[in-house]
Order: sequence, then structure tokens, then C-alpha cells
Amino acid sequence: MGEMAQFNLILLGPPGAGKGTQASRIVEDYGVPHISTGDILRSAVKNQTHMGLEAKRYMDAGELVPDEVVIGIVKDRLQEPDTANGFLMDGFPRTIPQARALDASLADLSRDVSRVVAVLVPDDELVKRLSGRRICRECQTPYHVYANPSQREGVCDKCGGELFQRDDDTEATVRNRLNVYAEQTEPLIDYYDEQGLVARIDGQQTPDKVYEDIKAAIGPPE
Ligand code: AP5
Ligand code: MG
Ligand code: ZN
Repeated sequence: MGEMAQFNLILLGPPGAGKGTQASRIVEDYGVPHISTGDILRSAVKNQTHMGLEAKRYMDAGELVPDEVVIGIVKDRLQEPDTANGFLMDGFPRTIPQARALDASLADLSRDVSRVVAVLVPDDELVKRLSGRRICRECQTPYHVYANPSQREGVCDKCGGELFQRDDDTEATVRNRLNVYAEQTEPLIDYYDEQGLVARIDGQQTPDKVYEDIKAAIGPPE
């Protein structure tokens, strides 16, 4: 018997590129779990766990949380049975050591990364997007006050949850997040290019068009 086709996907891109926006669509259509290290960390902050209190200092400054913490989170998450046929990583890996750790964890499971979707958007546009972003407290769906408003102000269209602004979406923190991305995360595009895995997507189109290009790159849902 051959192995089941795996769908081990990574969404890469700068802060505000639309990873969360596209992830909602992908997980709905392809039936894989959404693994967002940012969402997991924010939930730890909200629950005031030891890890959350530790991570918050880095997140509020727009710095990366240390590799060993984030790698531990993802390793644990990959033990959950819902990841058996695939996953969508959003915001992980973000450094070369994280990418190597993911490769090693997957190799232990006789798996590998299937495709890396890099959603690319220029910095000026990213600053605009993040300063107007609002997020659902319940289901994490992102909105934008001008570009992508909810039907009722402050209320999530999908679940009725309350919309809020992230603590790290202030202009100074956003600028630092963009620098950190350029220094530590962008090199991952070369890392995965060497494995022939990267699909570059123009993220400066409408969310629908971006999603069409992603589907073309990863193949239509079954
Ligand atoms: P994380 O939560 O991963 O944030 P990020 O990478 O900075 O990305 P964002 O979530 O801000 O943007 P997005 O690409 O999801 O865009 P969205 O779809 O919301 O990480 C936060 C922090 O956690 C890090 O800084 C770090 O401290 C820590 N962390 C997380 N993972 C880590 C790791 N692996 N290692 C170490 N530390 C880690 O869209 C943005 C806005 O644009 C929205 O308003 C949306 O409505 C709008 N929009 C989306 N698409 C479009 C479009 N096509 N046109 C117009 N507007 C659009
Ligand atoms: Mg996000
Ligand atoms: Zn919601």
C-alpha cells in the first residue's frame, strides 16, 4: 500500500501579508488543521501561563520568541492526531534553526514539507494593513477597518465574537517586526528554494485573487 498523500503546507510571509486571512480559507477547503504559533502564543498570554508571560515581552517588542520555546510548541502540536494527514503552518518556521527542527521532526514521522507558499507584499502596504487590523477574540479571523470591515462594527461576521486590536500592531512595533522578518525569516525563502518547494504569490491583490493563486500553486482541494 502506498502512503496517503500528505498535505504539509507552510505559509510564509511578512507580518500583515495575509497569512491568517488566507489560512482561514485554506483550512476550510482542504480540511487540514491551522497551526499558527502566533495564535498559540497569544492564547498562552491570555491564559497567563508561565510560557505566555515569558513570551509576551518578546511579542510586545516585535521580537521573536526564543526558538526552543516555539519549537517545543510545534513538536507537541504535531503529536495531535488531527495533523496525521497534513497541516497548515502559519508563522512557523521563522528562523533557520526552526526550519531545521521542523524538517527533523517530520523526518522522524517519515514525512516532509510538501509546499511553501510565500505571500509577498511591500513594507509600506504592510504598515497600513496592520494599523487598521482588527481580530476576532473567539475565532481569530482578521478584519480591516477600511479594506475588509466586518458587517457590524466590532463584531465578527463568522461567530459574533468581539473584535480587538493586537498589542503589537502599533506603528513602532510593526516597523521592528518588519526588520526582524527581513533579517531572520526572509532567508527561509532561499532555504526552501534549495528544496524546490517555494511558490511566490503576489499578496498585493484582493484576498480572493490571492487565494486563487494559492490554489493554483498547491492544487485544488479534493
Ligand atoms: P504572528 O501572529 O505570526 O504575526 P505576524 O507574522 O507578524 O503576522 P500577522 O499575523 O501580523 O499577519 P498575517 O500575515 O497573518 O496577516 P493578516 O491575515 O492578519 O506573530 C506574532 C508574534 O508572535 C511575533 O512577532 C513573535 O513575537 C511571536 N511568534 C509567532 N510565531 C513565532 C515563531 N515561529 N518564532 C518566534 N516567535 C514567534 O492580515 C493583516 C491585515 O491585512 C488584516 O487587517 C487583513 O484584513 C488585511 N488583509 C489581508 N489580506 C489582504 C489583502 N489581500 N488586501 C488588503 N488587505 C488585506
Ligand atoms: Mg496572522
Ligand atoms: Zn469570530
